[in-house]
Amino acid sequence: MAVQGCRSVVDQLEELDLDMAIAKQMKNRPRRAGKISTAETADDTGPVGLMPPNFDADYVAGAVEPFLLSAHFIAETPSLPMIDLALSKEKAVPIQLWGMLYDGWAPDPERGGLSVFMQGYENRGQDNARKRIYMSATTPDLIDTKYRTKITHFYERFLADANAGKPMMRPYFENYIDLYWNLHVGAQGSEIPAEARQFSDAFNTVLGFWFPTSEIVRSAYMQARKAREPLKVWLDERVQAILDGQQADADSTFVFYWLKNGGLGENFRRIDIVFECFHNFLAFSQWGNMIYNVAARLEPRRGDPKVRAWFEKTMKDGPDRSDDGAFTPLDRFVMELFRVISPNDGSYSTLRQSRATLRQPRAAFAAMFSGAVTPHAAASMNPRHWKNPTEFDPDRYKTAPTSLDNDAARAQQIGFAQCPFPVTSFAVKDGRKTEMVNSAFGAVYPVVDGKAHPVCDTAGFAPFGFGYRRCGGEHLTIEFVKEFLRAVWRNRISFVGLDIAEPRKTPVNPGTVLNDDIAFERKA
Ligand code: HEM
Repeated sequence: MAVQGCRSVVDQLEELDLDMAIAKQMKNRPRRAGKISTAETADDTGPVGLMPPNFDADYVAGAVEPFLLSAHFIAETPSLPMIDLALSKEKAVPIQLWGMLYDGWAPDPERGGLSVFMQGYENRGQDNARKRIYMSATTPDLIDTKYRTKITHFYERFLADANAGKPMMRPYFENYIDLYWNLHVGAQGSEIPAEARQFSDAFNTVLGFWFPTSEIVRSAYMQARKAREPLKVWLDERVQAILDGQQADADSTFVFYWLKNGGLGENFRRIDIVFECFHNFLAFSQWGNMIYNVAARLEPRRGDPKVRAWFEKTMKDGPDRSDDGAFTPLDRFVMELFRVISPNDGSYSTLRQSRATLRQPRAAFAAMFSGAVTPHAAASMNPRHWKNPTEFDPDRYKTAPTSLDNDAARAQQIGFAQCPFPVTSFAVKDGRKTEMVNSAFGAVYPVVDGKAHPVCDTAGFAPFGFGYRRCGGEHLTIEFVKEFLRAVWRNRISFVGLDIAEPRKTPVNPGTVLNDDIAFERKA
């Protein structure tokens, strides 16, 4: 069986024109020919036969070995809300995950499509064009008019009486899959094929349980690989239906706006639309983490009394008042929840190597498997950015700088000769009067019918990342959590921590598995 993951790594080493000693050793070493490795070994082969026999050779070579060779380094805690281009998004995907995305266990964007998540700034088209096209589908006007009812229906089903008193993450995920596909391609219930469900279950399991050396990850990984091709075929048909005008309410799907605003050009090809549709499981997986952690803080016994008090106050005093600044009281409450929960560890980048490292094949080899993480919690909790970083204080966003404030004048004021990222505008082509503009630090935000919808643009607000590579679904995510809180308030829902001996393990986020041990209840 071909060991494609390893071979491509060796080929890449050769391209580096290094001292070839290590590359040759790698190439000439004995390979596992079948399922069980009993082949004769060379002195330098290293550990052999450590994986259980059902770990296929290509899985070991494509996922386990690269993972074991990889390292994550911690990058600096940012002072400005941007990440310099030296830390690149190009192919910035944890090395063991490539086989989930591509047949050959290695990136193949030309034939397999790609996501903006894994693309360096320099390859995204003029002024981050791909990102702006992506975000044309997630703007606040679309959330209000096209997506909100999908979200509220989701909460009606998830928070239905029948699910009360039981561990809540199971009904969350049972209903989430409908919401996911409804938002992307307008499909729900029986319209979603088995492979799409299998892929999402498997993808989430791999992300959450993380370690490719474990059986739970291996079997989910192989299931995702099996389901991916049929899923892509189905997705391509859905894209065609939207193109042909055969999809009811097509303008309530992300794909509609990616088609209109990408024009099927090089910065959002058809295969990229299909790819984004399934790669987005990575982004959306974090919603479950937030819902659980918000419930945990609102739980009376084990939760956080300050968060509970702020929730009461926010909901009683008019959650949607436009009182101070860019954000409503409910926006500010949710943003503060994101800052303190910090559902995502950090922004992951690939590293450029110094020439000195390139002359050291071992170091060069290790660097190929590794990346740097710009830490979120450290930035959000940094006294450099807030006078009261450890306090739960939604009012901090009344005065915090926004992407609208951070313009050319502000860049000069803080000592830059020019904006680190040129401030430009991209007008959408789908008939709306919407432009995707950016702050001096690169953060893209929409202006709809002349009204700006900025984001909080300080390094002290890190949960959605920084600058040109900041989250493309931030507005939608904030609204998703706001609708959760509205449903909780409206239905007089409270949460209760369950004392279960062996709670179900629920993967929710990259590297995060929760105990499904919180239930909701309706107060009398
Ligand atoms: C709790 C939910 C979410 C959190 C905490 C979150 C957080 C983040 C963070 C930290 C980044 C930056 C990663 C980096 O620079 O390496 C990011 C990027 C991104 N997110 Fe989210 N995200 C969430 C949900 C979503 C959703 C629902 C969508 C889509 C609708 C989305 C779309 C994206 C995209 C497209 C990028 C890549 C942006 C770029 O590289 O230009 N995210 N997200």
